Amino acid sequence: MKVFLLSLLMVFSWTLLALESDAIPSERQQELLHLLKQDCGSCHGLTMKGGLGPALLPENLQGKPAFFLAQTILDGRPGTAMPPWRGLINPTEASWLAQILLQGDPQ
Ligand code: HEC
Repeated sequence: MKVFLLSLLMVFSWTLLALESDAIPSERQQELLHLLKQDCGSCHGLTMKGGLGPALLPENLQGKPAFFLAQTILDGRPGTAMPPWRGLINPTEASWLAQILLQGDPQ
């Protein structure tokens, strides 16, 4: 029983570690920034100033929590044109993109 609990604890802490390390390789970061411009940009505008989708500049997103934006990126908004990206973007990457949007594109 002790061994079982111990291994459960280990798996749990590994999961926490995996969630906390926002280690997105820089190559993948470049891919995500490209996706943001090309794919997201097709609706939200190349410079995120809006188009079919709303503007995603820091001033537009002010007060919206990163997890809420990440959720929108992962699952889309049913009933709107915002599609889910879960197959292409994992939760860590969605949070990273939400941060990028909240802070403003570094480029
Ligand atoms: C086909 C068009 C389309 C594409 C492509 C698209 N979006 Fe959207 N997005 C929308 C629309 C429309 C909304 C507004 C939904 C609503 O009315 O709530 C939206 C909403 C959002 C929001 C919420 C904004 C807010 O103020 O709450 C975020 C964040 C977002 N999109 C990010 C992205 C990202 C990141 C991508 C690319 C991975 C992307 N979108 C691609 C159409 C699109």
